[in-house]
Amino acid sequence: MQPRPLFVYGTLRALPLLAWALTGDPGEIDMVKALVKAATVSGYNRFRLHHCDYPAVVASSSSESQVDGYLLNLETLSQRRKLDDFEGETYVSTAVVVKLNENGSTVEADMYTWDGDAQQLSDKPWSLEWFIQERLKDWIEIFVGMELVG
Ligand SMILES: *[C@@H]1O[C@H](CO)[C@@H](O)[C@H](O)[C@H]1NC(C)=O
Repeated sequence: MQPRPLFVYGTLRALPLLAWALTGDPGEIDMVKALVKAATVSGYNRFRLHHCDYPAVVASSSSESQVDGYLLNLETLSQRRKLDDFEGETYVSTAVVVKLNENGSTVEADMYTWDGDAQQLSDKPWSLEWFIQERLKDWIEIFVGMELVG
């Protein structure tokens, strides 16, 4: 059975990290590139968490809010379980409608939204470019040699 697609908007958009999460090998870039498409979700805002390198999304009262990310077409339930394991208990899987940038068509998917302490959310935006430039190398060094449970 193929799992529902996922919309990813944070650290998993860094392809070496996504490759590590799905395969255990951060070098499997071509494999993960084939699974992602640039997309957006409306009705949510993304904020950085205090003292963390990663963000979370929360529902917004403004319909103009939107979050950019990737639609991720997972191939196996094992891959999905690995990402659930990676996200842990402070995020909850939420059904969303994802709009593909390339042609505007919409797809139903799941997105990990923040289910932890609201006080952990800052009011600061989170930048993928910052994460990739400043933090990704350290993250990969920490995770290489480990594998997620799937
Ligand atoms: C839009 O692009 C997606 C992904 O490539 C494709 O599956 C879908 O059929 C396209 N939809 C339309 C209306 O062209």
